[in-house]
This record gives sequence, structure tokens and C-alpha cells, in this order.
Amino acid sequence: MIRRNRILRTSPAIRAMVAETILTPSDFIAPLFITEGENVQEEISSMPGYFRYSLDNTVKEAKLLWSMGIKSILLFIKCADELKDNLGTEAVNPEGLMQRAIRSIKHAVPEMVVMTDVALDPYSSYGHDGIVKGQEIVNDVTVEVLARMSLSHAQAGADIVAPSDMMDGRILAIRNILEENNFDKVGIMAYSAKYASCFYGPFRDALDSAPGFGDKKTYQMDYANTKEAIKETLMDVEEGADIVMVKPALSYLDIIRTIKDRVNVPVSAYHVSGEYSMVKAAAKMGWLNEEKAILEILTSIKRAGADLIATYFAKDAVRLLQA
Ligand code: PBG
Repeated sequence: MIRRNRILRTSPAIRAMVAETILTPSDFIAPLFITEGENVQEEISSMPGYFRYSLDNTVKEAKLLWSMGIKSILLFIKCADELKDNLGTEAVNPEGLMQRAIRSIKHAVPEMVVMTDVALDPYSSYGHDGIVKGQEIVNDVTVEVLARMSLSHAQAGADIVAPSDMMDGRILAIRNILEENNFDKVGIMAYSAKYASCFYGPFRDALDSAPGFGDKKTYQMDYANTKEAIKETLMDVEEGADIVMVKPALSYLDIIRTIKDRVNVPVSAYHVSGEYSMVKAAAKMGWLNEEKAILEILTSIKRAGADLIATYFAKDAVRLLQA
């Protein structure tokens, strides 16, 4: 034998020397769920170990994340039922929970990269990402609201807006409104290849945002398709996206790789709520080692080509990496 592949697997030291993919805290984007109230910490029933926080606790959490080396958070808010409508009124309210959250976090942890979810579902009486007319989610009117919503996040101090709605033309509309208002340092992370996935279930529990009728298949992508993901992503880059995203992650590693090979902007992947809960459930049953699963999954997502990973395991991963 002239080639013995096991030589480079002999010891932990040699394995560490030749490891191709290494996770670091700045790979992670930590999603945060924010709710009204004071000193609230509510566990999300379908996401054990993950919480909705009131603003005061959110600020504490942001400080903790920053101290751990996590550079970025992605904000989601739970909107009170009485503020929901079919126009996204609360989404553009300068005193809305999201806008207040951005201001408080940027005040407390100014260096933290604050990313914000841009979509109407938490604000929608129908639980859809856009404005509903009859049985349809209407594109162009929605895009106009999403642009104004992005502007209000920028005005509150957001560093990066993250449209997750999958309407056509929204990246350009957002880029334009930011330019017109001199927010030339605000970035856009586009959920470019966002699939209509069953793995968002627990997230919709977290925000009480499940669609009231139908599903999201007329705007989110069919998981049978790859070419559509390439088309969507290339268009978003052309329209001005700074970062593109593939979502979910684990069932879409092929898409992450394909996109990574096609674009010259950073690629992020969202390891979504259902993917988190699957690990939690299996670990609780004693069927999986949670810690090992976390590191293996996140490393695979990075190996597939993700430069950034939005994950509910961000904190756990940093702790495990330091252990
Ligand atoms: C809403 C949005 C969703 C997620 C992020 N933004 C849910 C959906 O599209 O229904 C899912 C995140 C997760 O499951 O962790 N536009």
C-alpha cells in the first residue's frame, strides 16, 4: 500500500490539523422572538429551551450573545391580536414593538449587527406574508408595504433588513427606498431561496402566525426545484441583495452548495425551527446525543457552503466549541 488514508485520522491533534470546516461564533446569527410586557420569558412549547422575551430580557440576551462572540441577531416580534390587520399597519408603526426593540438593542449593544425580519405574517390577521385579496396574496401592494417597513426598521437603527416574504421585486423596491432616504449603509439579507416547508411549524407557534387559510405555496418555493432557487437568487443579487439565504438548511444542503457556486455574495442558511425541534425531541427520547448532533449539523451546513448560519443553537454551539 502506498496510500494509507487512516494516517490523517490517527489522533485528535492530527484530525484537528486537517479539518477543512471549522465553526466559529461569528458564523452564527441568533434569532430572537420578542413579545410585549416586562420581565417575560415564555418557553415556546414546540421549541423546548427556546423563549419569547420581553424587550428588557431581549436586551439582556443580546448583551450575553455579544459577550459570547456572536455578532448578529435576527429579530422577530409577536404582535398582539388586536393590532393585526390586512394592511400591515402595525408593521410600519415607528413606535411598534420591532422598532422599539431595534432602538433599545442598538442603544445597549451598539456593535451588534441587528437584522430584522421583513414580512407581514406576524402582523397579518390572515397569517400570510402579504396583503390578502379574496383568496390571493397580492404582490405589488405588498411590496410597497414591505419597502416602507424596511425603511422604518432602518430609521430605528437596523443594520440589515431581511425580507422573508418571497414577493417578486421586493429587493429592488427596498434598495430604492433605502437609497432615496439616504440609508446607504443599511444592508439587505434576502431570503432568496425560501421553500414552502413543513419545518416552519414551531416558528409559527412562537409568533402565533400560522396562515388562517390555505398555505404559502403561491409565494414560497416548491421543494422539488433547484433551478428556481438559482433564478430567484441571481435576481435578488441583481436587485441589490448584500447577502442571500437558503431556507431551510438541512434538507437543502444541495441548494446551499449550488447557490454558493453561483454567486459572489455571502450565502447564509437558516437552520429553522422544525429542524431545531427534531433534534430536541430525539434527544429528549434518548435517541440522539444533542451536543454531537448540533455540531455535526452546523458543520455540515457550513461545509455545504454557508458563510452564515441562522440557528436557534447559536449559543449552544458557541459553548460546545469552547468546551
Ligand atoms: C415569516 C418567516 C417564517 C420563518 C422566518 N420568517 C415562517 C414562514 O414563512 O411561515 C421561519 C423560521 C423558522 O421556522 O425557524 N416570513
